[in-house]
Amino acid sequence: MMDKSRLNRIIRDIKNFIELEKESGLDEFMLKGVTKPKQASGLDTGGVARDRKTVLDELRTQAQECRECPLCKSRRNLVFGSGDPGARLMFVGEAPGLEEDIKGEPFVGKAGALLTKIIEAIGLKREDVYIANCLKCRPPKNRDPLPSEVIACREFLRQQVDIIRPKVICCLGKFSAQTLLMSEESISRLRGRFYDFEGTKLMPTFHPAYLLRNPSEKRHVWEDMKKIRDYLSNHQENQ
Ligand code: URA
Repeated sequence: MMDKSRLNRIIRDIKNFIELEKESGLDEFMLKGVTKPKQASGLDTGGVARDRKTVLDELRTQAQECRECPLCKSRRNLVFGSGDPGARLMFVGEAPGLEEDIKGEPFVGKAGALLTKIIEAIGLKREDVYIANCLKCRPPKNRDPLPSEVIACREFLRQQVDIIRPKVICCLGKFSAQTLLMSEESISRLRGRFYDFEGTKLMPTFHPAYLLRNPSEKRHVWEDMKKIRDYLSNHQENQ
Protein backbone atom coordinates (compact mmCIF):
# COMPACT_ATOMS: atom_id res chain seq x y z
CA MET A 1 0.00 0.00 0.00
CA MET A 2 1.21 3.49 -0.79
CA ASP A 3 -0.16 6.54 0.99
CA LYS A 4 -2.04 9.08 -1.09
CA SER A 5 0.30 12.00 -0.58
CA ARG A 6 3.25 9.93 -1.79
CA LEU A 7 1.32 8.87 -4.88
CA ASN A 8 0.37 12.50 -5.56
CA ARG A 9 4.02 13.48 -5.25
CA ILE A 10 5.02 10.83 -7.79
CA ILE A 11 2.30 11.98 -10.22
CA ARG A 12 3.42 15.60 -9.79
CA ASP A 13 7.06 14.60 -10.41
CA ILE A 14 6.14 12.73 -13.60
CA LYS A 15 4.11 15.69 -14.90
CA ASN A 16 6.98 18.03 -14.12
CA PHE A 17 9.48 15.71 -15.78
CA ILE A 18 7.42 15.57 -18.98
CA GLU A 19 7.04 19.36 -19.01
CA LEU A 20 10.76 19.96 -18.49
CA GLU A 21 11.72 17.44 -21.16
CA LYS A 22 9.29 19.07 -23.61
CA GLU A 23 10.79 22.47 -22.88
CA SER A 24 14.24 21.13 -23.66
CA GLY A 25 12.94 19.96 -27.05
CA LEU A 26 12.91 16.27 -26.14
CA ASP A 27 9.83 14.52 -27.38
CA GLU A 28 10.99 10.96 -26.85
CA PHE A 29 11.41 9.43 -23.44
CA MET A 30 13.93 7.00 -22.15
CA LEU A 31 11.88 4.19 -20.71
CA LYS A 32 14.55 3.20 -18.25
CA GLY A 33 13.23 4.22 -14.84
CA VAL A 34 15.28 6.03 -12.24
CA THR A 35 16.23 3.65 -9.48
CA LYS A 36 15.41 5.42 -6.28
CA PRO A 37 17.99 5.32 -3.54
CA LYS A 38 16.92 2.97 -0.78
CA GLN A 39 14.99 4.86 1.85
CA ALA A 40 17.93 5.89 3.98
CA SER A 41 15.94 8.21 6.17
CA GLY A 42 14.93 5.61 8.74
CA LEU A 43 16.13 7.43 11.82
CA ASP A 44 14.27 4.94 13.95
CA THR A 45 14.81 1.47 12.56
CA GLY A 46 13.57 -1.52 14.49
CA GLY A 47 13.35 0.52 17.66
CA VAL A 48 16.98 1.61 17.35
CA ALA A 49 17.30 5.36 17.04
CA ARG A 50 20.09 6.08 14.59
CA ASP A 51 21.76 9.42 14.48
CA ARG A 52 21.40 11.72 11.52
CA LYS A 53 25.08 11.56 10.62
CA THR A 54 25.02 7.77 10.25
CA VAL A 55 21.93 7.87 8.07
CA LEU A 56 23.32 10.72 5.95
CA ASP A 57 26.56 8.78 5.51
CA GLU A 58 24.58 5.82 4.21
CA LEU A 59 22.82 8.08 1.73
CA ARG A 60 26.18 9.57 0.69
CA THR A 61 27.44 6.04 -0.07
CA GLN A 62 24.41 5.40 -2.24
CA ALA A 63 25.00 8.70 -4.07
CA GLN A 64 28.65 7.75 -4.55
CA GLU A 65 27.54 4.56 -6.28
CA CYS A 66 24.69 6.14 -8.28
CA ARG A 67 24.89 5.59 -12.05
CA GLU A 68 21.52 7.07 -13.00
CA CYS A 69 22.94 9.82 -15.25
CA PRO A 70 26.22 10.26 -17.13
CA LEU A 71 27.60 12.95 -14.78
CA CYS A 72 29.12 10.29 -12.54
CA LYS A 73 31.57 9.55 -15.38
CA SER A 74 32.82 13.10 -15.91
CA ARG A 75 32.95 14.30 -12.29
CA ARG A 76 36.10 14.12 -10.20
CA ASN A 77 34.32 13.94 -6.86
CA LEU A 78 30.82 13.56 -5.59
CA VAL A 79 29.69 16.77 -3.87
CA PHE A 80 27.08 15.38 -1.53
CA GLY A 81 26.74 18.18 1.03
CA SER A 82 28.43 19.44 4.15
CA GLY A 83 27.66 20.89 7.55
CA ASP A 84 25.68 20.00 10.62
CA PRO A 85 23.39 16.96 10.07
CA GLY A 86 21.03 18.46 12.67
CA ALA A 87 21.10 21.97 11.20
CA ARG A 88 18.04 24.20 11.60
CA LEU A 89 18.93 25.99 8.37
CA MET A 90 19.78 24.25 5.11
CA PHE A 91 20.99 25.96 1.93
CA VAL A 92 20.41 24.42 -1.48
CA GLY A 93 22.42 25.57 -4.50
CA GLU A 94 22.41 24.42 -8.09
CA ALA A 95 25.30 22.09 -8.83
CA PRO A 96 29.02 21.82 -8.06
CA GLY A 97 31.41 23.98 -10.07
CA LEU A 98 35.05 23.29 -10.83
CA GLU A 99 36.44 24.04 -7.37
CA GLU A 100 33.68 22.06 -5.66
CA ASP A 101 34.32 19.14 -8.02
CA ILE A 102 38.01 19.20 -7.09
CA LYS A 103 37.43 19.42 -3.35
CA GLY A 104 34.26 17.33 -3.08
CA GLU A 105 32.60 20.10 -1.03
CA PRO A 106 29.81 22.52 -1.92
CA PHE A 107 30.38 26.28 -2.23
CA VAL A 108 34.14 26.45 -1.76
CA GLY A 109 34.93 29.00 -4.51
CA LYS A 110 34.33 32.78 -4.54
CA ALA A 111 30.57 32.29 -4.34
CA GLY A 112 31.20 30.02 -1.36
CA ALA A 113 33.21 32.70 0.45
CA LEU A 114 30.29 35.10 -0.04
CA LEU A 115 27.84 32.46 1.20
CA THR A 116 29.96 32.10 4.37
CA LYS A 117 29.67 35.89 4.91
CA ILE A 118 25.90 35.74 4.37
CA ILE A 119 25.61 32.97 6.97
CA GLU A 120 27.75 34.92 9.43
CA ALA A 121 25.65 38.05 8.88
CA ILE A 122 22.74 36.32 10.64
CA GLY A 123 24.89 35.24 13.56
CA LEU A 124 25.60 31.67 12.48
CA LYS A 125 28.76 29.87 11.44
CA ARG A 126 29.12 27.79 8.32
CA GLU A 127 29.43 24.65 10.49
CA ASP A 128 26.01 25.40 12.04
CA VAL A 129 24.12 25.03 8.76
CA TYR A 130 23.91 22.31 6.12
CA ILE A 131 24.79 23.10 2.50
CA ALA A 132 23.79 20.94 -0.45
CA ASN A 133 23.04 21.24 -4.15
CA CYS A 134 20.29 19.99 -6.44
CA LEU A 135 22.90 18.00 -8.37
CA LYS A 136 25.63 16.07 -6.60
CA CYS A 137 27.94 15.84 -9.64
CA ARG A 138 29.38 18.68 -11.70
CA PRO A 139 27.85 19.24 -15.14
CA PRO A 140 30.69 19.54 -17.69
CA LYS A 141 31.82 23.12 -18.32
CA ASN A 142 29.33 24.30 -15.69
CA ARG A 143 26.46 23.99 -18.15
CA ASP A 144 22.90 24.12 -16.79
CA PRO A 145 21.67 20.83 -15.34
CA LEU A 146 19.44 18.83 -17.71
CA PRO A 147 15.94 17.86 -16.62
CA SER A 148 16.88 14.18 -16.69
CA GLU A 149 19.83 14.88 -14.34
CA VAL A 150 17.58 16.78 -11.96
CA ILE A 151 15.09 13.93 -11.91
CA ALA A 152 17.87 11.39 -11.37
CA CYS A 153 19.27 13.34 -8.42
CA ARG A 154 16.22 14.83 -6.72
CA GLU A 155 15.50 11.89 -4.43
CA PHE A 156 18.90 12.35 -2.81
CA LEU A 157 18.05 15.95 -1.98
CA ARG A 158 14.61 15.00 -0.76
CA GLN A 159 16.09 12.38 1.55
CA GLN A 160 18.71 14.83 2.81
CA VAL A 161 15.88 17.18 3.81
CA ASP A 162 14.03 14.27 5.41
CA ILE A 163 17.03 13.25 7.49
CA ILE A 164 18.19 16.74 8.52
CA ARG A 165 14.66 18.07 9.04
CA PRO A 166 15.74 21.72 8.94
CA LYS A 167 13.35 24.41 10.12
CA VAL A 168 14.13 26.47 7.01
CA ILE A 169 15.48 25.67 3.56
CA CYS A 170 17.07 28.60 1.76
CA CYS A 171 17.18 28.10 -2.01
CA LEU A 172 20.11 29.87 -3.59
CA GLY A 173 19.16 31.08 -7.04
CA LYS A 174 16.62 30.44 -9.71
CA PHE A 175 17.52 26.87 -10.43
CA SER A 176 17.23 25.59 -6.88
CA ALA A 177 14.03 27.56 -6.17
CA GLN A 178 12.35 26.48 -9.39
CA THR A 179 13.34 22.86 -8.86
CA LEU A 180 12.11 22.58 -5.28
CA LEU A 181 8.98 24.64 -5.83
CA MET A 182 8.27 23.15 -9.26
CA SER A 183 7.79 26.66 -10.55
CA GLU A 184 8.79 28.54 -13.65
CA GLU A 185 8.63 31.93 -11.99
CA SER A 186 11.76 34.10 -12.03
CA ILE A 187 13.88 34.28 -8.89
CA SER A 188 13.15 38.01 -8.63
CA ARG A 189 9.49 37.15 -8.22
CA LEU A 190 9.98 34.09 -6.05
CA ARG A 191 12.46 35.52 -3.55
CA GLY A 192 11.62 37.18 -0.28
CA ARG A 193 8.64 35.03 0.79
CA PHE A 194 8.30 31.78 2.65
CA TYR A 195 6.85 28.79 0.78
CA ASP A 196 6.12 25.26 1.89
CA PHE A 197 8.32 22.37 0.79
CA GLU A 198 6.71 19.18 2.07
CA GLY A 199 6.07 20.70 5.48
CA THR A 200 9.29 22.75 5.72
CA LYS A 201 9.54 26.53 5.29
CA LEU A 202 11.41 27.46 2.15
CA MET A 203 12.86 30.88 1.34
CA PRO A 204 14.26 31.53 -2.15
CA THR A 205 16.93 34.19 -2.54
CA PHE A 206 19.54 35.23 -5.07
CA HIS A 207 22.54 32.97 -5.72
CA PRO A 208 25.86 34.26 -4.30
CA ALA A 209 27.43 33.99 -7.79
CA TYR A 210 24.75 36.39 -9.06
CA LEU A 211 25.57 38.76 -6.18
CA LEU A 212 29.22 38.76 -7.20
CA ARG A 213 28.13 40.07 -10.59
CA ASN A 214 25.39 42.34 -9.20
CA PRO A 215 26.53 43.60 -5.79
CA SER A 216 23.65 46.09 -5.55
CA GLU A 217 21.27 43.12 -5.14
CA LYS A 218 22.91 42.17 -1.85
CA ARG A 219 20.41 44.31 0.05
CA HIS A 220 17.60 41.99 -1.11
CA VAL A 221 19.45 38.95 0.16
CA TRP A 222 19.98 40.73 3.48
CA GLU A 223 16.20 41.29 3.72
CA ASP A 224 15.55 37.61 2.97
CA MET A 225 18.17 36.48 5.49
CA LYS A 226 16.66 38.67 8.19
CA LYS A 227 13.31 36.94 7.63
CA ILE A 228 15.04 33.58 8.04
CA ARG A 229 16.87 34.76 11.17
CA ASP A 230 13.64 36.04 12.71
CA TYR A 231 11.74 32.87 11.85
CA LEU A 232 14.44 30.74 13.44
CA SER A 233 14.59 32.83 16.58
CA ASN A 234 10.80 32.68 16.94
CA HIS A 235 10.81 28.87 16.54
CA GLN A 236 13.41 27.78 19.03
CA GLU A 237 11.73 24.56 20.15
CA ASN A 238 13.84 21.42 20.06
CA GLN A 239 13.78 19.30 16.92
N1 URA B 1 27.25 27.09 -7.10
C1 URA B 1 26.36 26.19 -6.65
O1 URA B 1 25.17 26.29 -6.93
N2 URA B 1 26.80 25.22 -5.87
C2 URA B 1 28.05 25.09 -5.51
O2 URA B 1 28.36 24.16 -4.77
C3 URA B 1 28.96 26.05 -5.97
C4 URA B 1 28.55 27.04 -6.77
